[in-house]
Amino acid sequence: MPLQILRNDITKMRVDAIVNAANSSLLGGGGVDGAIHRAAGPALLEECRAIRAREGGCRTGDARLTGAGRLPCRYVIHTVGPVWQGGGQGEAELLASCYRRSLDLAAEKGCETVAFPLISAGAYGYPKQEALRIAVDTIRAWLQDSGPEEMTVSLVVFDKAAFEVSSGQYAAVAAYIDDHYVEAHAEPASMAVARKNRALQNLLKGPGRGGKKHTLFEVGAAPDAEDAWDAECAEEALSPAAPLPPPASGMAGGPGKPPAPPAAAAAPREANIAPQAIPAAPFAPAAPQAAPAAPFAPAAPQAAPAAPFASAAPQAAPASLREALRSLDESFAEMLLRKIDERGITDAACYKKANISRKLFSKIRADRLYRPSKPTALAFALSLELGLDETQELLRKAGFALSHSSKFDVIVEYFILNGVYDVMRVNEALFAFDQPLLGSI
Ligand code: AR6
Repeated sequence: MPLQILRNDITKMRVDAIVNAANSSLLGGGGVDGAIHRAAGPALLEECRAIRAREGGCRTGDARLTGAGRLPCRYVIHTVGPVWQGGGQGEAELLASCYRRSLDLAAEKGCETVAFPLISAGAYGYPKQEALRIAVDTIRAWLQDSGPEEMTVSLVVFDKAAFEVSSGQYAAVAAYIDDHYVEAHAEPASMAVARKNRALQNLLKGPGRGGKKHTLFEVGAAPDAEDAWDAECAEEALSPAAPLPPPASGMAGGPGKPPAPPAAAAAPREANIAPQAIPAAPFAPAAPQAAPAAPFAPAAPQAAPAAPFASAAPQAAPASLREALRSLDESFAEMLLRKIDERGITDAACYKKANISRKLFSKIRADRLYRPSKPTALAFALSLELGLDETQELLRKAGFALSHSSKFDVIVEYFILNGVYDVMRVNEALFAFDQPLLGSI
């Protein structure tokens, strides 16, 4: 189901099919086309020549499928994007057609993992941000309407010009980060959050395995855990039986955690956090296309969060651990399912909008003590359009919190406060700022 954005060289992707930004001759060229032909070797060119001899090549907006020669994928889908001529020559529709036709071919071959470059966004001159928007919207709509349930599509961004953060649509996000992002130097628990986020990012930079296990950003790069604590944080965060963080600290995985109660310790944690996926659900109508200067006008600005966890009245100590364990609060899974019921939406509508696979959602549904990753929990909060307080509440149930010590958290908070609940929009901004993305595969 999900769509994810990542940085990589597409020729390195171990997916079922990669898509080539070809020209109508199908005989190779520069850019990604040249890179794919070089990596695939002469067998690919032979197949392309055969198609050209048979059919005369490929028209703009259409696609053809071949084997992959020496590439680590099974198929190459060659599509011909439009040359940018100012936008008045049907370029947008032709570009959208490239994505749809390529996905149709991939689905016909039973591909479950497909990787696209940004078609037309190089030599053909399509403005990168517009090319990105068309790619995301078209792929997402296709996945929503006709895509196989378990298909994962990667949009491989080679250079980040489409995500220029200092100007354009991310300028307002950057300003918000400047105002709210606190470098975590003083307070140990905040530091732990920042470190853990960084550790997870480092982990996510690990070598890609292809298929559904792609990592984010520079997939080929080796993990560069900065120190032993980072490594420990990452390991703990991904451990299947990671202990619960302290219940009242509000900080995920802060130091000095007490041992978790046995039931919670047995709860599964997502083994593979891959928060870069993007939902197949259509954009929320309330999230208009961002205008360059002030993209996300606050529809109904919410108050900045008060310290959510400080409990004023001292609690009476339970008589025994057994008694304490008998009165556990509503769990993450229970709150999630309750909210879905209250909203009157279907499970599928919720997990698709959250960019969560059906498989993962089924696990959560089947286990009231399921412990999601933070990006997964946040993706559900956005999908349910929770305000900031309820988002914090849902996060707490998973052992996390939003903190101004984390750039990732500040970015997500910015969108929630501005009433933008579209996981894709948030993910684009997270990607622009080199943060892990929301959702899961
Ligand atoms: N992996 C992923 N993306 C890449 C890679 C790579 N290895 N190399 C480049 N890109 P372009 P087009 C990105 O020019 O605009 C050829 O000569 C690149 O940064 O490859 O559709 C064909 O034969 C850009 O964002 O394709 C055609 O004649 C995107 O891929 C013509 O260029 C597309 O850039 C097609 O032009």
